[in-house]
Formats: sequence, C-alpha cells, structure tokens
Amino acid sequence: MKSALKIAVAGLGTVGVGTLQLLDRQAELVATRAGRRIVVTAVSARDRRRDRGIDLSAVRWYEDAVAMAADPDIDVVVELIGGADGVALGVIETALAQRKHVVTANKALMAEHGTRLAARAEEMGVALAFEAAVAGGIPVIKTLRESLVGNRLARVYGILNGTSNYILTTMRESGREFTEVLGEAQKLGYAEADPSFDIDGVDAAHKLAILASVAFGRPVDLAGVYTEGIRHISRLDIDFAEELGYRIKLLGIARLTDEGLEQRVHPCMVPRATPIAAVEGVFNAVVAEGDFVGRVVLEGRGAGAFPTASSVASDLVDIAAGRHVAAFGVPVAALSTLPGAPMERHQGAYYIRLMVVDQPGVIADVAAALRDEHVSMESMIQRGRAPGEAVPVVLTTHVTVEAAMRRALDRIAALASVIEPPRMIRIEDF
Ligand code: HSE
Repeated sequence: MKSALKIAVAGLGTVGVGTLQLLDRQAELVATRAGRRIVVTAVSARDRRRDRGIDLSAVRWYEDAVAMAADPDIDVVVELIGGADGVALGVIETALAQRKHVVTANKALMAEHGTRLAARAEEMGVALAFEAAVAGGIPVIKTLRESLVGNRLARVYGILNGTSNYILTTMRESGREFTEVLGEAQKLGYAEADPSFDIDGVDAAHKLAILASVAFGRPVDLAGVYTEGIRHISRLDIDFAEELGYRIKLLGIARLTDEGLEQRVHPCMVPRATPIAAVEGVFNAVVAEGDFVGRVVLEGRGAGAFPTASSVASDLVDIAAGRHVAAFGVPVAALSTLPGAPMERHQGAYYIRLMVVDQPGVIADVAAALRDEHVSMESMIQRGRAPGEAVPVVLTTHVTVEAAMRRALDRIAALASVIEPPRMIRIEDF
C-alpha cells in the first residue's frame, strides 16, 4: 500500500466532527478503496477545550488555521470553517500556494471565488474539490461533472435549501403561517446562523451558481443568479397551489435558453405529480436533463454531519487514489463564454393572487391590464362572496414574458380595488 495521505481539518463544527468520525469508523474501508490510508494529522478550531466526543490526542492542534495550511507535513487541507472570506479564504489560498490539495464544504466561498481558486489550483497542479458544498450528501458535483460528461445538459434544477423546504412542507401539512414555522426551524437547528440566507434564497443561490458552473462549463456567476426567497409565501397560496394541482417549492434552476443561461432561485409552482414535488421536509434533490440520458433525479440529505462527511470523504478518496479532474470539468481557460440570460426576458407561466374589494368591474380592470400587456389568462378562481370586503382572486397565465407580467402587475397593484400587493409565483413545466 502507498504511504498514507496526511490531511489537516480546519473547523471542527458539525461537519468537521462528522468527517473525523467517518474517517475513524470507516478507516479500513476507505483505505481499501483509496489504495492508501487517510490519516488526520492536524486540526484547527476555535476552542480547544470543548468536548467534541472524539479523540484528538494523536493529532497536532493549531490555533491558527492559516498556519496549519502551510504545515509542510500535510498533503490535503480540508476547509470546514465556512464564510465566503476571512479565515476560510486564507486557509484555502495558503494551502494552494503550498501545492496542497484542498477539499471544502464552503458554498459561499466557492460561489464568490470558485473560478479564481480553480485557476490557482490548476496552476499549482493540485485538486480543488467541493462535493460537500452543494446539497450535502447528494453526490451531485461528481454526477454532473463526470458521470454525465457525455451529455449536453438543457436544464439543472433542484431543492437546494433544506430549511426552506422544511418550512414550506410544514406550512402545508400543519396549516401554520411562515413566521411561526420559521421559529420552529430555528429551534430545531435547521436554519443557517443568519436565517435570511435560507429564507431569502441566498444559500440556494450560492449552490445554484456552483451547480450551473459545473453543469454548463461556465465561470461561477453568482451575480447572475436572480434570487427571491419564501418570506412572502402564505398559507393561502399553499392552499390554492394544492387546488390547482401544484406544490410550492423554492427551486434553483439553471436553464439554457435562446437568450443564454438562465440562473434563478425563487418559489415555484411545480406539478404535484413530478418527482421534485414529492421531496419534502429537510431533504434536497437535484434533477438534470441531458440529451442522451434524459432525466436524472438525485435525492438525499442536503445537510447534517454524516451526509456532508460522506461527500468530504468522496473527495478525499479521489485525491488519495490520484483521481483528479478540473474543478469545473474543464480547465478554467476553456470555460464557456455563454452569456447570462436576463430575468426580464424569462418566459414562463405565472400564478397571481390578488386581494380585491368584492365589487363590480374589478375583474374587468385586471383583465384590461393583462390584455394591454399581451398576457393571456389560463384560469381564474374567485373564492367566496363578501360585497364590499376583500376576497382573494387567483389567476394563472399562459407562457408570457417576465417584463410584460411585471408591467401588468404594476398596473394591477395601482388599482384602488386591489388592496394588497399582488403575489406572483412562477409556474414551472417539468
Ligand atoms: N442551511 C442549509 C439548508 C444547509 O437549510 O439546506 C447547509 O447548506
């Protein structure tokens, strides 16, 4: 057997501890599969005294993770600190400068700096591996980059944030409103330290930017991801979605269009009969559509100590075995110049919910705004009868252009009889 691969782990939070546990418990299996042992040689974390339930007596302890990344006795640095910049970035840059392979679970950092770091890794002849950065334990990076390499992909989409999916699922199942269920998700420890990353779509946007880059061989383009979260989703919309045969899911979607590559994260109405609609609770899923393979669906746990450690281990075993591919599938210089498609040019169907005063002529005014923008209505539901009071009116449209839909909504919002800002949710045709 070849000499052991010596690794250093920066960050001993949930994923760090899970990774050490996996490497300990599966040591023989991993050694057999990698052709050599993987040995944790050094670790770094903020608090040395904290009891993490793991034996660290045989490893070197560093207060300074950046100094650890420069340790000449280390082959691979595993960055599990998190955060787009700061120490995590310092650790990775130092490791690459020292020609050490890097494994990271850091989605924010890869979304912000992925292309530059990939170029640096290439220059130094080492791996930059990030399976754990997207969808936790789901092996989606390797699947898109390697297993589907013989396909042109038309669309990649998924449920990339477990917290949002948990909130939407629980709202539907329990009949409770958003704020109450968010509080529960935070108590259960699902939400990110800053919950706005989960519920405003930021975390999903980070992951989508990385996925799109791998799937379409394009530099990571976080700024090009249109992002909308789930704060405005109400029980009323969830009930109407059910009635119309849909489920509401926060999706990340990267799709090739005539305008270029669309990258968007927003709540979607998805037909209830599709696989993605059945992915509930904290689970994640990614769907890829290739020209030869057709539709591939991957589902699993998108967070948590052991699932994420499973992905870190996959990267470590590849490095140990000498399997090394370009971070985004092709050398950085060969990444595509395919333009990003602006959201205003997006074409799709829409669900619109209005709260209107129940009086004659309201629907005629709404219909006029749609007609003037060439938006064709597909269906309309008006619930209840309450003369002079507010009632919900729901419309669905045929495929139309986002900019026209927005202009029509601005006009509708300005009508005296429309008493709340209109709610708009895009309908996806899967
Ligand atoms: N906060 C993330 C989620 C987990 O809810 O999916 C890690 O990416």
